Amino acid sequence: MTQPILVTGGAGYIGSHTCVALIESGHTPLVLDNLCNSSSESLERVRRISGVRPGFVEGDVRDAALLDRVLAEQRPQAVIHFAGLKAVGESVQQPLEYYDNNVGGTVTLLQAMQRAGLRNLIFSSSATVYGDPASVPIREDFPRSATNPYGRSKLMIEDVLGDLYRADPAWRIARLRYFNPVGAHPSGLIGEDPRGVPNNLLPYITQVAVGRLSRLRIFGGDWPTPDGTGVRDFIHVMDLAEGHVAALRHLLAHEGMFTVNLGTGQGCSVLQMVQAFERCCGRGLPYEIVQRRAGDIAECWADPAQAQRLLNWKAVRDLDTICADAWRWQQANPAGYA
Ligand code: NAD
Ligand code: UD1
Repeated sequence: MTQPILVTGGAGYIGSHTCVALIESGHTPLVLDNLCNSSSESLERVRRISGVRPGFVEGDVRDAALLDRVLAEQRPQAVIHFAGLKAVGESVQQPLEYYDNNVGGTVTLLQAMQRAGLRNLIFSSSATVYGDPASVPIREDFPRSATNPYGRSKLMIEDVLGDLYRADPAWRIARLRYFNPVGAHPSGLIGEDPRGVPNNLLPYITQVAVGRLSRLRIFGGDWPTPDGTGVRDFIHVMDLAEGHVAALRHLLAHEGMFTVNLGTGQGCSVLQMVQAFERCCGRGLPYEIVQRRAGDIAECWADPAQAQRLLNWKAVRDLDTICADAWRWQQANPAGYA
């Protein structure tokens, strides 16, 4: 029997797309998720896409006894650890929840892996660890900082993993720093399903386009960027998913720890994204330019050279594909998985 890949948080947005990419590359995902920000319907959709329904354990990464049982019974080859909370504003209101879930959850998982003799881990970090970068594109050796508890939880976990690797170099660890994941699987069956009003740009745009929200508010038209709106590195979630398969391949074949950006290397402004989306859905999007959002930065995009060199991976899907796939998902599922 092939050993599964344990995917914590695998019912969520990036996790469900990664399950598809894992299955397509011959792996067997086993999802552990407490469904605090997702629905197991996503895994049924993964089955419709790939023909395989991932194994599913409903539970929490902070539950050490459950982890011991799953690791002993299923003997996974590696863990891809997506499980965590990710809303920046909420992390400012409820910092302890974020440290408990993200940092505490990761430490509990690492301890269980250590007890089970399993030392292969891929961790979801974020470009948020670069804070407000001094320049773009951003390389992995740029200084790190945090401006909110969510970002600090990612910094702390990166450091925990670094310490663990130094103490025991038998660990194989990938720290993947995602830029802005967007879009959906081209089938329109899985996609991003945020609870309540979306915080992030693209789900907000698609909900305006489908009539669920009345107008987009663009946070700031006076940034020091070519058109005055913020610039980000929007990466198609299937490119990101395939980045995990590439990272897994590398991890299983090589000793050591590595840290890579997963981004496209292209900056795209908020206005450029709005225009691309208008082209895709064939209608104008109502928007207004309002004040800057607290904590935002002007520009953020990746230098993706390290991922290409180390993993032989690069993002291949363009902005039009991102918009078309996000739009297909939103139209087919106007209320998400509900
Ligand atoms: P998501 O909320 O869709 O997925 C996270 C999943 O983890 C959810 O299914 C949730 O139910 C589960 N979960 C949360 N806490 C858990 C716990 N204690 N035990 C078990 N399951 C738990 O988010 P996503 O966008 O798929 O993000 C996945 C990971 O990538 C997160 O760690 C996030 O911080 C990181 N990340 C996301 C982005 C982004 O913009 N989406 C950017 C950078 C990094
Ligand atoms: C957000 C998170 C960050 C995370 C990143 C990747 C915040 C403050 N930061 O970053 O921690 O790592 O996602 O997923 O949430 N915008 C609007 N109107 C909107 C929404 C967004 O103009 O309604 C603008 C923002 O000002 C920004 C750009 O769109 O310029 C992208 O915003 P968003 O999608 O929230 O991502 P980030 O802020 O880059």
